[in-house]
Amino acid sequence: MGLGGAAPAKNGADVSAALELRRVYAGYGPFRALFDVNLTIAAGEAVALVGSNGAGKTSLARVASGLVTPSEGSVVVNGRDLTRAPAYRYARAGVAHAPEGRSVFATLTVEENLELSIHRIRGRKGLKAGLEQAYALYPILGERRQQLAGTLSGGEQRMLTMARVLVDAPRLLIADELSLGLAPLMVQHTYEALQQLRQSGVALLVIEQHVTHALALCDRVVILDRGTPTWIGSSEQARTRLQTVLHSPPTSN
Ligand SMILES: Nc1ncnc2c1ncn2[C@@H]1O[C@H](COP(=O)(O)OP(=O)(O)O)[C@@H](O)[C@H]1O
Ligand SMILES: [Mg+2]
Repeated sequence: MGLGGAAPAKNGADVSAALELRRVYAGYGPFRALFDVNLTIAAGEAVALVGSNGAGKTSLARVASGLVTPSEGSVVVNGRDLTRAPAYRYARAGVAHAPEGRSVFATLTVEENLELSIHRIRGRKGLKAGLEQAYALYPILGERRQQLAGTLSGGEQRMLTMARVLVDAPRLLIADELSLGLAPLMVQHTYEALQQLRQSGVALLVIEQHVTHALALCDRVVILDRGTPTWIGSSEQARTRLQTVLHSPPTSN
């Protein structure tokens, strides 16, 4: 299992894959948000998922972490079919999901937010070590441990989300627009944290508007359009494609 190596999509079961979506259809009631989605993320691989607003990126993230059950198709995590399993089984199998938007408990302190996650994953005995780990990763959270999470800046809230997710020691992290609305320095910090995870062998599914950051981090890129992947290629290919688009003059010649 080469860490970080781009994995070719395979037919049939791939036990080395962190995640496989096979012919997935999913939606909300009668509304269909995803159509015929096939996606494999190898162990340790980083995949960027890009697409316009409403393309279905968040819906795909929810399917991949068991929050939305597909109406058709299957979801395989580390070789195990979890299609109809509840979300906690995904978490136990090593899938962590940093959801879109503000996902901290605003009226609890930083420390209480961390304690909730750590307690759930590691039990009471793991609390001290878990908190130390979180504060080592994000010292600013240590400085603000008694502050209400709702009064943190957007960037700090995102750090808290990351810290809560990382106590899980996930095999796959799904990061949904972690850098949205952050100042450039915070975006950089966020990407450094993701890069560190990558280097430690965690597979990543990175949903991102800042395409250049995502390309620098990831092995492969998936473009989602109206609920279905319309292009999958290496980051290198995506970069070339993007440059062609960016550097061609607005008027044709
Ligand atoms: N909870 C929901 N209930 C109903 N429709 C939803 C819900 N969440 C998303 N949708 C719809 O599903 C489609 C895909 O949304 P989403 O997955 O959030 O896209 P993206 O993250 O790419 O912006 C959109 O048309 C959106 O309105
Ligand atoms: Mg979204």
